[in-house]
Amino acid sequence: MDLLRFTTAGSVDDGKSTLIGRLLYDTKSIFEDRYEAVRRTSERRGEEHVNLALLTDGLRAEREQGITIDVAYHYFATPRRKFIIADTPGHEQYTRNMVTGASTAELAVVLVDARNGVLTQSRRHGFIASLLQIPHMVVAVNKMDLVGYAEAVFQHIVDDYNGFAERLDIDDLVFIPISALEGDNVVNKSQHMPWYQGPTLLHHLETVKVGAEHNVIDFRFPVQYVIRPDQHFRGFAGQVASGTITPGEEVVVLPAGLTTRVASITAFGLPREAAGPEDDVVLTLDDEIDVSRGDMIVRSRNRPLVDTRLDADLCWMSEQPMQPERAYLVQHTVRRAPAFVTKIIYRLNVDTLHREHAQTFHLNDIGRVELTTTQPLFFDAYRINRRTGSFILIDPDTNNTVAAGMIRGVAQDVLPVGEIYEHRPSAPTSPHVVWEGLNVAREAREARNGHHAAVLWLTGLSGAGKTTVARALERRLFEAGCQTMLLDGDYVRHGLCGDLGFSPADRTENIRRVGEVARLFFEQGCLTLCTFVSPYRRDREAVRALLPEGRFLEVHVDCALDVLQARDPKGLYQKALGGEIPHFTGISAPYEPPTTPDLVLHTDRETEAESVERLLDLLARRGFLPQR
Ligand code: ADX
Repeated sequence: MDLLRFTTAGSVDDGKSTLIGRLLYDTKSIFEDRYEAVRRTSERRGEEHVNLALLTDGLRAEREQGITIDVAYHYFATPRRKFIIADTPGHEQYTRNMVTGASTAELAVVLVDARNGVLTQSRRHGFIASLLQIPHMVVAVNKMDLVGYAEAVFQHIVDDYNGFAERLDIDDLVFIPISALEGDNVVNKSQHMPWYQGPTLLHHLETVKVGAEHNVIDFRFPVQYVIRPDQHFRGFAGQVASGTITPGEEVVVLPAGLTTRVASITAFGLPREAAGPEDDVVLTLDDEIDVSRGDMIVRSRNRPLVDTRLDADLCWMSEQPMQPERAYLVQHTVRRAPAFVTKIIYRLNVDTLHREHAQTFHLNDIGRVELTTTQPLFFDAYRINRRTGSFILIDPDTNNTVAAGMIRGVAQDVLPVGEIYEHRPSAPTSPHVVWEGLNVAREAREARNGHHAAVLWLTGLSGAGKTTVARALERRLFEAGCQTMLLDGDYVRHGLCGDLGFSPADRTENIRRVGEVARLFFEQGCLTLCTFVSPYRRDREAVRALLPEGRFLEVHVDCALDVLQARDPKGLYQKALGGEIPHFTGISAPYEPPTTPDLVLHTDRETEAESVERLLDLLARRGFLPQR
């Protein structure tokens, strides 16, 4: 007889306990004396109905003893099927509980109170069900008796929820109007809702097609124990995670990668013709190969991904927030290894499905991360293999589970959401334009370039030598194999900023545009040299704020005004002094020198070559030059 594992989720007071009690009672899965006890308690409390919720509450209390994660399992059977309910209490920690309870479920029942309609939590439950790839979902619209069994109320909830579920990955979504209290459409067909033609909840649970959820294609056998009773026998015990195998088939043992054949399969001492998902078996191999616990036996032509960097959805389940940089233990099949959350790509707002910038995860947070393990794991994407595609993270100090993960694949070089724009709420954005994230991450470009990216900002009066020094520096960097870009006042004022003059507002806009362009070259992995008078401190700080900490280097190119006037290569000072150029920096417009420059060049006292060396030295000290 087959088995359906399902999970129930609902908000407090949605009537989940009553529903489970109703299923147990109407399927006669409760002993008469137990029911009697509940009936008497209800009577004593003066309740109108027998409080079926007491049935499950009693059971739950018994089972809760000694388990940290709050999921209670109930069992019942009908002539057609056996059922295991993973009952996840609806209060506070519903996300953690639901992830735990649902990890092996084939169906999720989400309860919605007909009076309240679709709540945030109902959406959250649906989202988790889809994240966990639970193949079937039932939205049970409960308490129909309290809305006069009105079809319109039901239909409104159906439409509302469908609107949300469209954006999720749910293959099979069924809505059933019920009253757990009165027993409508739970086990017995309701007399009150003739407009509803569908099955009762139990009928649906009995007939929904299951079993297709097992991956029977990809043979994965994590070795749990090596059995070696004597010199002549060596077997490998474990549970088939997925796929099937028969004696004689060619297999390879990971990580060693040696190929051999399956010699025999036994289960409980008896030979077997084949093994499939969830079978506990012992395999022997044709060749003497060194196999240890945690290795994986797979078909030679169908291998899992093998990597130390994983792209995964993570649900944080600990009261202690995630500590990036901290070593957790990853438990994946039977393998356990130290692991780091090396990047948080985003946290998902489960209610709006928006992706948010995050530095850490708190209890019940869900999002996408990059996980780096110290030993390679043998894994598949969760969507094709729930067993080899999932893992948990363990706190090595307490041994508690702190997170559950669903693997998407090998880590991609994806830029965290918000790293660039989200922390700048003031950034002007054209209407209806969405930031998609950059295509190739800067880290990947930097790795290929062999050096880090930075913006080297040279500020100072006109004629101080910013451009001259920067040009000489860029040539040196180019020769050293660096990716470089030089943005110069005179370049951008031809074209990009050609519409701007030198009023304070125009200069601010000039530097704003240049800052944005510099940021793009920075993300491209360049050592970006910028030479602008940029007389206002606030404008330069605005550019700094576009870049990650430590990547904006501010250099004051300082030169005494009398020297500048004497040099005056473009004749501008003379014109300015003659009143021909309004707003001329240093003469008729202010210059605000940097308060904490990374370097000051004195071009009236040092040679061009000396200035270039000092800039190279600064870049080297800050780790921006290629390592040889
Ligand atoms: S900024 O103030 O907006 O940063 P930017 O560096 O782009 O100025 O342009 C400065 C260059 O424009 C100078 O090198 C000079 O050749 C020229 N220039 C023309 N008018 C002015 C002015 N009023 N003040 C400063 N530079 C000027």
